[in-house]
This record gives sequence, structure tokens and C-alpha cells, in this order.
Amino acid sequence: MVAHNLNIRSAAAAGSAPGRRSLWKKRKLRMKPRKMRDGVHWLGAVDWNRRLFDSLIPLPDGTSYNAYLVEGSEKTALIDAVDPLLLDMLQRQLAHVKRLDYVIVQHVEQDHAGGIPWVLEKYPDAKLLCSPMAKDLVVTHLHVSEERIQTVADGETLSLGNKTLTFVHTPWVHWPETMSTYLAEDRVLFSCDFLGSHIASSALYSGTDPRVLEAAKRYYAEIMMPFRTMVRRNLKKIRELDFDLIAPSHGTIHDHPELILNAYEDWASDRVSNSVVIPYISMHGSTELMVNHLVAALAERDVRAHKFELTTTDTGKLAMALVDAATIVIGSPTVYVGAHPLVYSATYLANTLKPKAKYAAIMAPTAGARKSSSKLPA
Ligand code: FEO
Repeated sequence: MVAHNLNIRSAAAAGSAPGRRSLWKKRKLRMKPRKMRDGVHWLGAVDWNRRLFDSLIPLPDGTSYNAYLVEGSEKTALIDAVDPLLLDMLQRQLAHVKRLDYVIVQHVEQDHAGGIPWVLEKYPDAKLLCSPMAKDLVVTHLHVSEERIQTVADGETLSLGNKTLTFVHTPWVHWPETMSTYLAEDRVLFSCDFLGSHIASSALYSGTDPRVLEAAKRYYAEIMMPFRTMVRRNLKKIRELDFDLIAPSHGTIHDHPELILNAYEDWASDRVSNSVVIPYISMHGSTELMVNHLVAALAERDVRAHKFELTTTDTGKLAMALVDAATIVIGSPTVYVGAHPLVYSATYLANTLKPKAKYAAIMAPTAGARKSSSKLPA
């Protein structure tokens, strides 16, 4: 075993890209389809090693790309696919599935739809179902011919025999074309990105694991927070359905749905906590002194302070703190004629995420302040 690992390392260090790829393939953990209900299986890929999404979002706990196979007495449907990076995992899971009648694309982003062209090629008689908003995206990004696409209206049902799928349009969580799929007979809601979390786990279900809620909050903060109004609207919509399981396209399946629904309702509400988010940069210590003074003063008044030094900050943690903070105070030294570039970047990101903070302020040490304090480092 040791020799094998050494071989992998040395070949990867020395080796060509194809060599590295085949070695990595051998090292992948391959998950078999996992039964959720009679005729309902989780398929997909757990991406334990991925550490960045969209070249922006840190993934400290990895992620998963969940697909689901629903086999009725007459027809079979696949809900979503996986990121092409791990397509071979889905390919293996589908190896013994001889017939697919429907491929449901709930969302066209690459991490779920990137594997769809391969699925359609394997099952040439399968019809692709998606929301009307998704159709152009499917044609443009996945190069699927229009004849294979059938759009489904909000509330439309599809019979698979003894199982019925209802399509529930849930736009802007987080793309405009996103929809969920409800399986009434088994009381399962397939929610796509909505209510998901970037977490790699060998567990199928979330249970009451607090790490799942933490990962879900991070995911909400990074992906859903800008669409808070739409999140609320969609929460209300799915609350009208009866389900025991929420099966998202990332992370574990929620078998205590109230936990994630209540958390989302809180995050997306207008309620703020008595807390202050303080992203800052300090080049020579002056801004740090001001920030520390502020944090101490807030603590004396029982106001929670979240201090983020921006050269080392995990963007996801900053985003999470912004979910319900009442106040944001930005600290920056002056670089040439403006704020430090990392402060610009963080401020831009915070604006994009549209947090519900009620107050904002900027702290910047002035030249006079630096001169007047002999305690400040040079
Ligand atoms: Fe998980 Fe929006 O893709």
C-alpha cells in the first residue's frame, strides 16, 4: 500500500496530465446508488477534495453533486446530473439502467447539467424536461437539439405510472430558470440548489447534524442571499407541499425538513442580530488599533463583533456573518488616493450579496492621527 501511494505521488509529481488523471481516477471514492424509497435512489458524486467553486467560493468541507433516479411502474426519470469533472461516477451508477424516459434539468449550471449531454447520448429516446426559462440555456450551453426538449409549466404533473412528479418553478434560487420537483407518493421534494449545502459526506441524510446547518448557512450566504425576497416567496410556495424529505443537489438529504426550512426563513427574514461585521486591512497597525478599540467597546456593551482581517479572511465566513448583522464597519488605510484594494474587493462582494444590514460606516486613520500617536508602529 505504501509503495502504491509512493508510486502515485512520484508519477503525479513527474508526470504528464493524462497520467495524473488516470491515477486520480483510481483514487476516487466511488459511491453506489443509494436507496431513499422503493424506486427512488440517490445517484451522484461526492467531491471530497474540491476547495474552490466558481474560482471564488471556498469549500472547506468539499461538496457533492446529487442526481436522483425515480423509477415508476411505467416510466423512469433522472433528476439532474453531475459536474463533468466527476461524470465517471454517474456513468458507473447508470451502467445497469437500461432505459430512461425523462431527464429532468432543474438548473442549467455546469455542476448539475454538465453531464446531461452524455446522459442524452446514452439514452437516445429520453426526453429532456426543463422550465421554459431553461430551454434557451440548455440549447446554448449544453448544445441539445430543440426537438429533444419539452418545457414544463409551473404545477404541471408527469406520471411515471405509480409515481407522479410535479414541477414547481422556484426562480432565482439562484438562477432565473431553476425549478424543484415534487414526488407526492413518496413525499420527497427535489429542491436543486435551493436548501442545499456544500458539504462532502458519506451520510445520505442530514439528521440533526449542526455542521449541515452551518454549511447550509454558508451556502445561503454565498449563493442565495442576494435573492432574499425570492427565497421567501419560494419558501412559501414549497411550504404548501407535504414532504418528509428535501433532496437538494448539493450536500446531504434533509430528513428533518423543518430544521432547514426554519433556518432559511430566519436567514431570509428582515430580522437582524445585534452584531457588527468589521472587515478591515491594516498596513502598519493604525487601522488595527482602531478596530481593536471598536471591538472592545462593543464587547463592553454586549454587542457581538465579527472581526475580519482581509488578507487572511475566509470569504464564506465573512458572507455568513453578513447574513443577519445589523451593522457593517469597514476599516481601511489610504493607499495612494483611495482605500486598500482588498477593501474595495470585500466591499464590492458585500454589496453584491445584498445583506440586510441597517447601518454602515467606514473607519480610516488620518495622517494627523498617525502623527499624533507615538504608540503607533511606523
Ligand atoms: Fe449548484 Fe447553481 O449550481
